[in-house]
Amino acid sequence: MTFTKEKTLAEQVRLDFPILHQEVNGKPLVYLDNAATSQKPMLVLNTLRDYYEQYNSNVHRGVHTLSAKATDAYEGARDKVAAFVNAASRQEIVFTRNATEAINLVAYSWGSNLQQGDEIILSVMEHHSNLIPWQMLAQRTGAVLKFVELTETEEFNLEQFKSLISDKTKLVSTVHVSNTLGCINPVQEIIAIAHKYGAKVLIDACQSVPHMPIDVQQMDCDWLVASGHKMCAPTGIGFLYGKLDLLRSMPPFLGGGEMIADVFLDHATYADLPNKFEAGTPAIAEAIALGAAVDYLSGIGMDKIYTYEAELTGYLFEQLAQIPEIRTYGPLPKVAGLGRAALAAFTAGDVHPHDLSTILDQAGVAIRAGHHCTQPLHRYLVAQSTARASLSFYNTHEEIDVFITTLKEAIDFFGSIFN
Ligand SMILES: Cc1ncc(COP(=O)(O)O)c(C=O)c1O
Repeated sequence: MTFTKEKTLAEQVRLDFPILHQEVNGKPLVYLDNAATSQKPMLVLNTLRDYYEQYNSNVHRGVHTLSAKATDAYEGARDKVAAFVNAASRQEIVFTRNATEAINLVAYSWGSNLQQGDEIILSVMEHHSNLIPWQMLAQRTGAVLKFVELTETEEFNLEQFKSLISDKTKLVSTVHVSNTLGCINPVQEIIAIAHKYGAKVLIDACQSVPHMPIDVQQMDCDWLVASGHKMCAPTGIGFLYGKLDLLRSMPPFLGGGEMIADVFLDHATYADLPNKFEAGTPAIAEAIALGAAVDYLSGIGMDKIYTYEAELTGYLFEQLAQIPEIRTYGPLPKVAGLGRAALAAFTAGDVHPHDLSTILDQAGVAIRAGHHCTQPLHRYLVAQSTARASLSFYNTHEEIDVFITTLKEAIDFFGSIFN
């Protein structure tokens, strides 16, 4: 009897990603910078090309055939995103340039309600995108920012959160999966607690939407934001999910064409959702391609992606644990409260993360080094910068082996220089 080894998920999908099949610096590319941006499958690339080759046209404005086709595809993409995160209505999905713009939209529009002394709770692990807009809002309104710190295992400190929240809290805004610690935050519990105090909750889902099933109704978040380019779609497109009544109650963010109902010289009335928040010609091709990315991810199944990546993460951490100089950040896979995402931020003794990254690049391995847009978190962890390897469902165990072997060589090399 012959046994055929079942293919891993990565083996099944790799051919869909043309960029992965190249040499960098004379070595096969090992792309481990997926938390910064993901690679794009053929389905997404073809969708972009088809739009420009076959029906490039503006949306919502023309009655001609190409415009109608572009409008159908653009609005169809909204339906796909709404279904992907289980929104109750397609009107709850607003296309934005990225997650950063979506957070700024909420901070400017809804944030204009805030008053002196109102409190906003964030965590010390927020990406700058989920920090600076609230700092700016606090400066405009006199609202006060408060920060949840970390537990001993470097996860969201829920107990401390409970001690910070009060009737003064108007907003809790936190990341679902930290792009540096990799911890998966207990968002459902955070949201339930915040709602008891009448506070609204925004979830930064940039690092969760591409890697696990997301159900905004079950989560009960008030807003959720994500960037397309981290979930197999092009750059220049992201989305804001918001509860319908809440979005309806919010004033427009940017003014111009597309977001209006009736315009007079001295005033205007605004379009219904979601157009009220989509001023000007949108990123049409990119939105349609985001729809294709959602089709692609759904075709694989987010449960399958999560399970495969969890196994790969376990393997990555086992291998990193074999290198004595390595200190990883965030919870270890086995102790993580709610699980751990598929990335590892680490330092290696005195070796500068940029030096590690440069040596790895010479071996074709792309990782990121720096503060990953979480400078306050790095300060909190007393680390100037870290190196970060971040995985996707198209990464293989063999790629992790190449990464680990090169990492060991780099550490040995620098060890021989320093000693
Ligand atoms: C957790 C998190 N939030 C927000 C962002 C910002 O995403 P973008 O720059 O696409 O708006 C990122 C991107 O790295 C992120 O990882």
